[in-house]
Amino acid sequence: MACRSGSPGTTRSKSGAPNVRTTISRFLDGLALEVPEGVLPPWYSSLAILAALSEHPEWLAHVRRVVDVGCGSGVLACWLARRGLNVIALDIDTTAAIATSANASRNGLRVKILVCNLTYCLAAGTVDALISNLPFDPDGSRNHGRLTRALVDAEYRSHRRLLVDAQRLLDNDGRIVLASSPTIGDGDLLRTIIAEEGWAVLDLASTWLNAPTPKHPDKRHLYCTLLLGKQGASSRNWPHGYVLCVGLD
Ligand SMILES: C[S@@+](CC[C@H](N)C(=O)[O-])C[C@H]1O[C@@H](n2cnc3c(N)ncnc32)[C@H](O)[C@@H]1O
Repeated sequence: MACRSGSPGTTRSKSGAPNVRTTISRFLDGLALEVPEGVLPPWYSSLAILAALSEHPEWLAHVRRVVDVGCGSGVLACWLARRGLNVIALDIDTTAAIATSANASRNGLRVKILVCNLTYCLAAGTVDALISNLPFDPDGSRNHGRLTRALVDAEYRSHRRLLVDAQRLLDNDGRIVLASSPTIGDGDLLRTIIAEEGWAVLDLASTWLNAPTPKHPDKRHLYCTLLLGKQGASSRNWPHGYVLCVGLD
């Protein structure tokens, strides 16, 4: 696999395993984030999105107003606000929305915060683009305790609803940046849903990351950050065509 230069390099924990917390801080440009219990901290998929956006500034070049759907700690919303975008951050979880609000204030950033189920509370024409690191594990039987809602989207039902509502919300030039992982989730199912709901993959950035657990210290996952546009625009197949490779090992 061809890796571009400029990868964030190696950081390791005491055990020798790559340390995602240390590595992601390299992408945060000094953003200070605090994450309360029950809210997912910036994680591998967040890192993959930030790496993709850093590598592909053209994805959001014409975007002024963006909504972060499922903002969690606010890592993506704050990163985008710091780049001068007009950002709405929303989450179905009140604790997450409060965490994003606190993190935006902590960094002196203006982000509009909403507690909302997907984008249903937004009027058409409010934003030019949507970014979402929605849960992409489609196995609804998996229990991650308090973080289950942050990690599991059974059969990608929330993704489907989001893609349906995004047809109403965004105009014909509207863009969606969507996190996915064909190794954690079901890439074929997600691709089918994207096509069925009238969206096309315009570009992608694939990122291999080590995602070690005590049981699987060498586990690797492929994260695909997708750029979607309404069908009719030219599209690319995925997940082959590795655009970006960020190595933590
Ligand atoms: C994987 S976390 C991502 C958090 C953050 N964006 C990041 O990149 O670290 C997914 C987030 O989506 C939120 N979420 C799940 N279902 C949602 C829904 N139907 N509407 C809005 N937010 C939702 C969860 O509460 C959680 O904070």
